[in-house]
Amino acid sequence: MDYSKIPSPAYVLEEDKLLRNLSLLKHVQEEAGVHIICALKGFSFHAVFPTVKKYLHGATASSLHEAKLVYEKMHVKAHTYCPVYVPKEFDEIQQISSHITFNSLSQYELYKDKMIPEVSYGIRVNPGYSEIETDLYNPASPDSRLGIPGDLLGDELPAGVEGIHFHALCENTSYTLERVLESFIKLYHPLILQAKWINMGGGHLITRKDYEPEHLIKILKAFKAKYPNIEEIILEPGSAVGWQTGVLISTVLDIVPNGKYPTAMLDVSFTCHMPDCLEMPYKPAILNTVESSKFEYNLGGMSCLAGDFMGTWCFQQELKIGDRIIFDDMIHYTMVKTTTFNGINLPDIGVLSKDGNYELLQSFGYEDYKKRLS
Ligand SMILES: Cc1ncc(COP(=O)(O)O)c(C=O)c1O
Repeated sequence: MDYSKIPSPAYVLEEDKLLRNLSLLKHVQEEAGVHIICALKGFSFHAVFPTVKKYLHGATASSLHEAKLVYEKMHVKAHTYCPVYVPKEFDEIQQISSHITFNSLSQYELYKDKMIPEVSYGIRVNPGYSEIETDLYNPASPDSRLGIPGDLLGDELPAGVEGIHFHALCENTSYTLERVLESFIKLYHPLILQAKWINMGGGHLITRKDYEPEHLIKILKAFKAKYPNIEEIILEPGSAVGWQTGVLISTVLDIVPNGKYPTAMLDVSFTCHMPDCLEMPYKPAILNTVESSKFEYNLGGMSCLAGDFMGTWCFQQELKIGDRIIFDDMIHYTMVKTTTFNGINLPDIGVLSKDGNYELLQSFGYEDYKKRLS
């Protein structure tokens, strides 16, 4: 792929890669007889929502604004789960949601008299098992505020509740889901027997190379066979939709010789434009780097945060000012988490079509920064 003509910095989604992911997700959906919906928290690239809608069953929202984006750009009602609902927003959320899930019994009590027949309601439970090492991303730890713990629920679903939602995965395999389901069934079997739908959350990294979709299909079919009362099984991945579908293009603006390795200063920032690299943390892949070479560099973000750097990568040749640095797999969770810290501008957003044409969809400027402040 030739990125050299695309203005830097830019998030660039590649259509053929997105279609590859969507086709695989559709295959799982059809073979397992489940509904897969796109989690906006991980993938909100709304210019391609019409394409996403052709393959998936809709989308899930975790706020009024995400639900509005689903309704406006995908023309479907959202599956909405907010950890807590803002009272003045609840009526609007009901109008644009097909499913609404409550995170606690107190939220259910607060809104139960407002329930309407057009919406199917659910509760989120803590399935009591997860395999996520980073606490920041573990929604099912014993003390998690997300989901009702088993001991607070009796043997009956609250009146008017038809669905049960859990979310316990983060970039996990179907084998982890299998173990989560074991725990979920152990804790909630009587409630599952009363439910019409089960939402198994996100974190199913179905489109990663080593994922075994056929195993996922097998366990979903086994779950359906065990609970014929369940009319709808929902999976709501975000990462799997945007996984390896594009890049963040950046440019070297300076090279400072300080420290053991020189640092290439870029026109992007880890903290503003790739925050998960610092939060998780993880080291992103960069195109055209090598295992080892004498051209080893730290890469530095353009903010003045001392920790806005990552290191080190080896290049085939000496870096020069003006060289392009292409961060791979920078579409999911990056664009939705950007900030304008330091007044740093946001990268452009564009799409590379299957035939190699680049379309600039969005660029940002001073007004976007100013509007967030007052
Ligand atoms: C409730 C819920 N559903 C879905 C997702 C999407 O998860 P992923 O993008 O890892 O598939 C998340 C992620 O945090 C979540 O909290």
